[in-house]
Amino acid sequence: MSKRPKRNQISPADVAVQRDIAIEIATLHREKGVTPLAFVDTYGCQQNESDSETIRGYLRDMGYAFTDSEVEADLIIINTCAVRESAENRVWGNVGNLVHTKRDKPEQLIVLCGCMAQQESVAKKVETSFRHVDLVFGPHALWKLPELLKRLMTESGRIVEISNPEGVIAEDLPSLRTEGPSAWLTIMYGCNNYCSYCIVPYVRGRERSREPERILKDVERLVADGVKDITLLGQNVNSYGHDLDDSIDFAWLLEQINAIDGEFLIRFMTSHPKDAGERLFETMARCEKVAKHIHLPVQAGNTRVLETMNRGYTKEGYLDLITAARRYMPDIILTSDIIVGFPGETDEEFEDTLDVLNQVQFDALFTFIFSPRSGTPAAEMDDPFTRAEKQVRFDRLTALQNDISTRRHQDYVGKRVRILVDAVQDDARYPLKGRTAGGRLVRLAGDEALVGEFAEVEIVSASTWSLTGELV
Ligand code: SAH
Ligand code: SF4
Ligand code: F3S
Repeated sequence: MSKRPKRNQISPADVAVQRDIAIEIATLHREKGVTPLAFVDTYGCQQNESDSETIRGYLRDMGYAFTDSEVEADLIIINTCAVRESAENRVWGNVGNLVHTKRDKPEQLIVLCGCMAQQESVAKKVETSFRHVDLVFGPHALWKLPELLKRLMTESGRIVEISNPEGVIAEDLPSLRTEGPSAWLTIMYGCNNYCSYCIVPYVRGRERSREPERILKDVERLVADGVKDITLLGQNVNSYGHDLDDSIDFAWLLEQINAIDGEFLIRFMTSHPKDAGERLFETMARCEKVAKHIHLPVQAGNTRVLETMNRGYTKEGYLDLITAARRYMPDIILTSDIIVGFPGETDEEFEDTLDVLNQVQFDALFTFIFSPRSGTPAAEMDDPFTRAEKQVRFDRLTALQNDISTRRHQDYVGKRVRILVDAVQDDARYPLKGRTAGGRLVRLAGDEALVGEFAEVEIVSASTWSLTGELV
């Protein structure tokens, strides 16, 4: 495997140093006879959820127990998202409130990490207006959390660590998984696409694929742990392997994972339409463990808008892709992301988005109103439409999709589906909930012992948001 470039790989020795520091901190806590409490608050996408599992793994190794209370916590780590202004505002609001908890508990440590924290403007804002924050670090410094916390405990003054903006790869970090039969598995980091509205490439660095051997080992370990549902994560999983050997691509990886023994489902997100194609669909159709679901964000239906978004496909190209996917998998579940009110998008151009919805009939959609992100090209573009005008479009879009989702769900009634029962819920009639392979929520009656198991159910009724089933 000679062609593989050296890609800011953190050496095993450097990772080992972090593990040693974690043990050192745990010993200190033990000697003091305390079990400190940590609160990890996570915003944003699955990538952040996965990073928070690493944070919790490190904290466990450092002797921390966990709490959901800001008041009780000795250490608060806020893992942030920068994708829209609303996400950032929520974080600032919550960080602002911590002034009060810290006043009552001056030894409390407050840490801001994740995508927002990678931006220089955020470190500056903390410096001037949020002086109760002790440590700011970006995603590329996650691997050295023990070292950063040790410095915090032994040095005075605030620490900011946002170096290596291109990103690193660190392997063998600890992880404390959220309980349940499902797991996240990062296969690649970063993004090279620079969609003109998006902050992710600036805060998550360049695309870096993990070595396939590592990923396959992780899958084997998760399956041995009883995990039944593994979601492979990357900003654009379809470009997996571009920085590895020529023979390695995402479809190949799916096949390798599919060949691993055990009863489990393979999901993945997110797929970029410009890199998806027949090879992927053919592989998905053939691999029995791969969920027949693809989340394929279209973002907008109009080709001119797609071009200014720098998406790399046209309306017709997208529709052809959907036709191809359905040719290989007639019952495939399709979901997507849409941005309403991209700068300069006219009412007429927005109609193309509605037309795509009507033609494709997505099972579900994630819809957003454009949010200018400072440093991205779209933030500088003329944006003549008001927020109120965009809201009208947004409401039309969601109304149309709700109709479509309801109809798609109605089609399940009377059919049998295999679901993974993933949790109990607070509902006397339907105390269990599960998901179909396509990710549709199913409520059902049954014994708690079913949690974590696959089950055959017959769908007896449906609404816009969920299905109701009975065990067969
Ligand atoms: N890498 C994934 C998604 C990343 S962000 C992809 O390419 O599909 C998740 C979603 O947030 C995007 O698909 C997009 O719909 C939305 N989004 C990203 N930047 C945005 C912005 N500036 N304003 C509004 N929505 C945005
Ligand atoms: Fe953002 Fe585009 Fe990369 Fe997705 S593909 S993370 S939308 S730049
Ligand atoms: Fe947000 Fe970062 Fe994910 S910006 S959407 S948490 S990659």
